[in-house]
Amino acid sequence: MSRVVVIVGASSGIGRATAREFAERGDRLVLAARATTTLAEVRAECADVDVLTVPTDVTEPGALDALADAAIERFGRIDVWVHTAAVMAYGRFDELPGRVFDQVVRTDLLGAAGSVRVALRHFRAAGAGTVVLTGSVLGHITAPNMSAYVASKWGLQGLVRTVQQELRDSPEIRLCLVNPGSVDTPVYQQAANYLGRVGRPPPPVASPHRVARAIVNCVDRPRREVSVGRLNVVMRVGFTVLPGVYDILVGPLMRLAGLSGRSIAANDGSVFAPNPAGEAVRGGHLPDLRQLVSGPAGAVGAALRRRFG
Ligand SMILES: NC(=O)c1ccc[n+]([C@@H]2O[C@H](COP(=O)([O-])OP(=O)(O)OC[C@H]3O[C@@H](n4cnc5c(N)ncnc54)[C@H](OP(=O)(O)O)[C@@H]3O)[C@@H](O)[C@H]2O)c1
Repeated sequence: MSRVVVIVGASSGIGRATAREFAERGDRLVLAARATTTLAEVRAECADVDVLTVPTDVTEPGALDALADAAIERFGRIDVWVHTAAVMAYGRFDELPGRVFDQVVRTDLLGAAGSVRVALRHFRAAGAGTVVLTGSVLGHITAPNMSAYVASKWGLQGLVRTVQQELRDSPEIRLCLVNPGSVDTPVYQQAANYLGRVGRPPPPVASPHRVARAIVNCVDRPRREVSVGRLNVVMRVGFTVLPGVYDILVGPLMRLAGLSGRSIAANDGSVFAPNPAGEAVRGGHLPDLRQLVSGPAGAVGAALRRRFG
């Protein structure tokens, strides 16, 4: 029987790719994010399955409860709850407005915690279910000028581990954390920016489809934590084993690889309100192999997608 999958953050990037991935498997979808227009586009992209869209701001009190209620009312059950909603902010900690810092934490940490709370309430009553959250390699290491995001992802790491320990008495209820490195999504351009230069994902960059497949695999074969990114382990070892060297190198490396040459005026990006015009599956930092290799080179394309997709 097809599953009922709630995806919070479904209008862009990894969440949107995940919606398509579940739709390809015939699962029924409940898609949430703030931007109503973009949610309608994603529903059209998943037209082969039954889709409910629920405009939701995870920072609004009661919004996630209302989302769960809407899902139950439509489908009578929830089997999987995926939370990918997040925002980012660039800027030195003391130059980033406090209201921006707070809203990033409210969205990325407290919003995810709210999703876990609501999902577990339903799964405890039903006796089973799977929650998948997206953390980041930045939940294990740090980088300058991203304090709110890094603090949220470290917080999420601690929250997930704690709840996983609390769930030991309920083996049918799973909580999985997928930790990507750099991914080709619009989150970098959508970020609040008080640094003066537009951000970009430092290489190596994975496709959102690769992370989406990791999320779906986590539901099929639950794991506590999954890392997606070729250098994640190397970065974690450097951060842990050689902290002094790491701290000397990380600033210059992030300026070189994590920021583009494009300057930008101080702005709040999509932190307080959605920017539907900037939402898409990809961020334009990688060639879209799915499009490049479609057509006559289909077989070669499939192989390339498996390797790099
Ligand atoms: N891209 C990367 O390199 C990368 C690396 C590591 C981890 N991650 C993690 O992967 C996850 C997905 O990121 P992404 O790169 O796919 O970002 P994205 O393309 O910017 O998508 C973010 C999603 O979150 C939604 N969202 C933002 N604020 C919200 C709010 N207050 N309420 C409800 N929805 C909200 C956005 O929709 P609306 O704006 O319409 O609400 C959008 O659907 C995040 O947890 C991110 O931290 C990403």
